[in-house]
Amino acid sequence: MGEEALKEMSASEDTLVVVKPDGVRRGLVGEILRRFESKGFVIKKLHMLTMSRSQAEEFYSVHSAKPFFGELVSFITSGPVVGAVLSGRDAVATVRRMVGATKSWEAAAGTIRGDFGLGLTDNCIHASDSAESFTKESAAFFGQTRG
Ligand code: CMP
Repeated sequence: MGEEALKEMSASEDTLVVVKPDGVRRGLVGEILRRFESKGFVIKKLHMLTMSRSQAEEFYSVHSAKPFFGELVSFITSGPVVGAVLSGRDAVATVRRMVGATKSWEAAAGTIRGDFGLGLTDNCIHASDSAESFTKESAAFFGQTRG
């Protein structure tokens, strides 16, 4: 294998996105996944589920001391969500750029949140903000699921 090909492989990383209950209810799963696939990311895992309260608390444990934690857990458990592990070059940062700002009304046009909503808790999609978050969140999300 050539040096360039090796460099390309080592630049690849994984991240997790979760289409939130508002995104699923509004029929945006296909459109959101299409954007990531069109960009060149590979879907390594894909799973739809409704999070239990304890699963949601583990998933969002980094926010457990925040005043909005209760609302966050209630919302994310309010219906089915779709989680995907995406793999590709600089995935964590690139996917976060495609997702856009947390406050959807401030998110830039062309980003997922910028194009599909005005919410804060209901901001269509979650994406891991670091490799460490990816490891923790995907363990909480996928748990015992195989593959
Ligand atoms: P997400 O990327 O899933 O990470 C944590 C979530 O908390 C965030 O998106 C928002 O949906 C939600 N949230 C609710 N209230 C706030 C707030 N005041 N500040 C930041 N995030 C908030």
